[in-house]
Amino acid sequence: MTEIEVKSVDGKAIAVIDGKEVQIVKEMVMKSTKDGPNLLIIDGQVKFHFCRCGHSEHKPQCDGTHKKVGFIAEEKETKVLG
Ligand code: FES
Repeated sequence: MTEIEVKSVDGKAIAVIDGKEVQIVKEMVMKSTKDGPNLLIIDGQVKFHFCRCGHSEHKPQCDGTHKKVGFIAEEKETKVLG
């Protein structure tokens, strides 16, 4: 299970992903890709691929199985912070 926490330290936004701290300088976005995983994007860099088709052998991480099962879903982007 992947744990993600967002906290403020000395006025700076910090994302903690499985214990690893990543400073959020500008923004954090969750992007649902077309027919694919949810991407956690911090300051323009993809930090994690979350399975949303339910078929990954390595949940919660996407392992590409969505292509084999023909997963179909719309694209959507949500700004979480920034
Ligand atoms: S979204 Fe990629 S394996 Fe589920």
